[in-house]
Amino acid sequence: MEHPLSREALAYFDGLFPIQGPERLTPQRGCSTVHSEANRISGATQMYKDVLVPGSSNLPHAIPYQGSKRSLAPLIGPLIPPKIKTWFEPFAGSAAMTIYAAHHNRAEHFVIADSLGSIVALWRAIVDEPDRVRDEYAALWHGQQAGDHGYFNRVRERYNDGGNPVELLYLICRCVKNAVRFNAKGRFTQSVDKRRLGMRPEKMAASVTAISRLLRGRVEFRTGDWLQTTLDATPKDFIYMDPPYVGTSVGRDKRYHAQLTQDQVAAGVQTMLERGLRFALSYDGKTGEKTYSDPLPEQLGLTHLHLHAGASSQATLVGKRAETIESLYLSPGLAEPVSGIIRRRRPEQARLFA
Ligand SMILES: C[S@@+](CC[C@H](N)C(=O)[O-])C[C@H]1O[C@@H](n2cnc3c(N)ncnc32)[C@H](O)[C@@H]1O
Repeated sequence: MEHPLSREALAYFDGLFPIQGPERLTPQRGCSTVHSEANRISGATQMYKDVLVPGSSNLPHAIPYQGSKRSLAPLIGPLIPPKIKTWFEPFAGSAAMTIYAAHHNRAEHFVIADSLGSIVALWRAIVDEPDRVRDEYAALWHGQQAGDHGYFNRVRERYNDGGNPVELLYLICRCVKNAVRFNAKGRFTQSVDKRRLGMRPEKMAASVTAISRLLRGRVEFRTGDWLQTTLDATPKDFIYMDPPYVGTSVGRDKRYHAQLTQDQVAAGVQTMLERGLRFALSYDGKTGEKTYSDPLPEQLGLTHLHLHAGASSQATLVGKRAETIESLYLSPGLAEPVSGIIRRRRPEQARLFA
């Protein structure tokens, strides 16, 4: 059974981007309408498609990963076709889309994969040993004393030597902007955020328990390169991909332990198309006037949508206002092209603007 809110969102999106074939959903009464609106942002006029998507951002999340798709999940989720056998997330990180898909019963089985072995080990621990994660995290969190920034560095040293995934969880929760950074040797290098203590143990315990209940018995974990971990995917499955973007792969700000060039992404996508696979790929867009990469080649035949990802925190920090727009590419036949930027609006906002 789909979650009732998910069904509403799907019906709504179905009017926007019809799903082709016999599984097309019938629009329901009471669903909201889209309206377009021209806005001036950074001097340029942009056309928005506002989409009413209720709820869903309160799903449990244990890994506060910078780059998480948690807030975009309610916009991406309804574009995903029904009747999926196995859902693959080969660039999992905090696997926000898998949590969304599992919560909304969008697939029978799930594969969480990443080339960073320790994040996969953390996932395995969260799902299979939630009590251990809860207890060890609470001990680490309570062990910190106000002003003792050396504590974080000692945990980081221990993690780099021993690889305990719960120590990694603590480091992610407590480091600057929740932004993991690794050096060429794979050692965690990010520093402590002195203004926050990291997720409270009570909230972590509730999140870990909920996620374990949600996924246990229907998830498999894999460590490796995205093309390897999806080798057994078939046209009955669905692959959601969120690779390191060009903006975080070139230049000085190399965010993840591994990077991918746009050519590598395009070549991998081409092999998936040749295998008749269904997929969605999140990728660079732009922040304010800055565009991070060229669009993926048109010859791939993908549907290119533009999603409004919110205000750029980087720009806000320096007193500017810039919106971040992300690309979402869909394999052929999943959605019609949409001109303009798809933006989420909650029902209460719609009432305010009515
Ligand atoms: C943008 S993050 C994914 C964030 C995720 N969507 C979420 O909700 O948290 C990209 C992830 O890809 C992983 N990665 C980098 N190169 C990879 C590769 N070649 N194959 C598989 N995973 C890779 C990184 O370790 C990182 O966790």
